Amino acid sequence: MPKVIFSQEKQEISVPEGTTIRDAAKLLNISGIKGVNLLAACAKCLACRGLSSHGACRVIVTEGHGENTNSLTLWEKMCFMSPFPNPVMGLSYLENPEQTRLACECKITGDITVDTNPDLNLFGENFFS
Ligand code: FES
Repeated sequence: MPKVIFSQEKQEISVPEGTTIRDAAKLLNISGIKGVNLLAACAKCLACRGLSSHGACRVIVTEGHGENTNSLTLWEKMCFMSPFPNPVMGLSYLENPEQTRLACECKITGDITVDTNPDLNLFGENFFS
């Protein structure tokens, strides 16, 4: 079974192939949504419970992205490349486009390492350049 390491929480778990990062995090009682901004705070209150409707469960897959996950879903592309439903998603995708995923859409097919609740760096190299 694939192993998922949640680096910030220093926890890991083995899950059946095809499990989403969100479901793996739930098994360890790790919250995928923290109020880093007003929209995320609202999203936490109005959490979609994995229905992929608010787009606030973004994570960074630091190791194993691509080879050990499914490819970006249509919904992820919509969230990351348009200002709806949450403009912060698009900004965060610009910061790290190769590794940003929605926890509820990203299926695990091999060993991965995940950073939950990544900070948004509006002054990083990819912004305003
Ligand atoms: S849990 Fe709502 S978009 Fe992922």
